[in-house]
Amino acid sequence: MNRKDFLKTGSLLGAALILPTTDAFSKNLADNSIDKLVDANGNYIQQTLPYNENFLEPYMDAETLHLHYTFHHGGAVKGANKDLQMIKKSLDDNNLETVDFWTKKLSYHFSSHILHSIFWTNLTNRSNLPTGNLLKRIEKSFGNFDRLKVLIAATSKNVDGNGWGILAYQPYSDSLVVLQCENHEKLTQWGAIPILVIDVWEHAYYLKYKNKRTDFVDALFHIINWDNVAQRLDDAENLIK
Ligand SMILES: [Fe+2]
Repeated sequence: MNRKDFLKTGSLLGAALILPTTDAFSKNLADNSIDKLVDANGNYIQQTLPYNENFLEPYMDAETLHLHYTFHHGGAVKGANKDLQMIKKSLDDNNLETVDFWTKKLSYHFSSHILHSIFWTNLTNRSNLPTGNLLKRIEKSFGNFDRLKVLIAATSKNVDGNGWGILAYQPYSDSLVVLQCENHEKLTQWGAIPILVIDVWEHAYYLKYKNKRTDFVDALFHIINWDNVAQRLDDAENLIK
């Protein structure tokens, strides 16, 4: 068993403790660890949550998780499907007057779908620590784990308005990078593959944390699943091999 297989098996064994075997997400992980965000017809689909809505208590309350997953993430999936249809219709009708509008909308909605899908799997009720290749990458790019935590926490807390703090693998520099994303689609580096995302839209925390975004970001570090981040790093590296 090579390191990747070991990591993957370890992650799947860990996931199996909390995921029912019929869960669509766990099945997807077993088939292919890349997130499955579209069906066979190319329509966007939302996977089921990999845990119950109270699983992340007390750091993320069940009501917030329910509303966030159902209406905010779910709404983005619906929006992305509509945007895609409208772009196809514009081409079918040979009427491109509004196609730029729908293209912008699709960037917004599909980016939301991607980031939220990663976000749910980045979280667990059993916090752990980075090890192995992930830890080596963190040390190479940021010095040590504490420096990464300080950087991504500050980057997330200081987003202007709504957005995300993101740890990504950047294949063009073969390094980990921390990004500050506004909305869902702005301020990226092309090619960067997100492996850890922190949602700092108000809908992610306002019911429990009110206006204290900083408390929410600090609390999230109790429920980050670094095994999932490690698996995502492995997948990202393998994508470009
Ligand atoms: Fe969100």
